[in-house]
Amino acid sequence: MIENQTVKDILSRRSIRAYEPKQITEEELETLLTCALYAPTGGNLQNSRFLVIQDPEVLEELNLVIRDELRSRPVVEGEMMAKGIRRAMTENYHFIFHAPTLISAVAPRKHSNSMANCAVGLENILIAAEALGLGACWSNQPHWLTEVPAVREIFGRLGLREDEDIFGSVSVGYAAVRPKKAAARKEGRTVRL
Ligand SMILES: Cc1cc2nc3c(=O)[nH]c(=O)nc-3n(C[C@H](O)[C@H](O)[C@H](O)COP(=O)(O)O)c2cc1C
Repeated sequence: MIENQTVKDILSRRSIRAYEPKQITEEELETLLTCALYAPTGGNLQNSRFLVIQDPEVLEELNLVIRDELRSRPVVEGEMMAKGIRRAMTENYHFIFHAPTLISAVAPRKHSNSMANCAVGLENILIAAEALGLGACWSNQPHWLTEVPAVREIFGRLGLREDEDIFGSVSVGYAAVRPKKAAARKEGRTVRL
């Protein structure tokens, strides 16, 4: 296998779930956002957008809205949200583990490529974060709760439009833990003819 720096960054990236309180630099944020903007988009429509929350008060407000909303929901075994609801029940819950920066990808609700367009942008952020020595983790809570008025109100302050949904988010900061080794890859996930 060829192991240049980009490949190494892709292979060494891990989800980080504990952060230092210190904010990332403007230059680091700018780099992450530029990498997101250079991800491909279907038809080159460039209709995914990246909304950033760094204000600690707004992040805390969002955390409480997400916590209370998840706590109000039933745990349905087998649903992806079940684990998230259980975690929201814990004391000192913080949906992004007190990361100082949240980047959410938003795009038109009814456009068929929106999820893919947002996901490739967020993946660029995750890899760029690794390359810059930052910690990052996908957070699906804002996506799950994109229709909740209190969530939309907060993102509305950043310009979330009525016709847009939040398709995914990434938390970023300086890692306060050393990531564990990646789990072994499951067999049979690549097939060649
Ligand atoms: C679509 C998607 C949703 C995810 N949602 C969450 C989440 O809400 N909270 C979280 O801590 N991690 C979330 N993750 C991160 C995964 O749990 C993580 O990537 C996986 O456990 C593998 O670990 P690694 O990223 O360290 O390789 C999500 C990842 C993806 C791709």
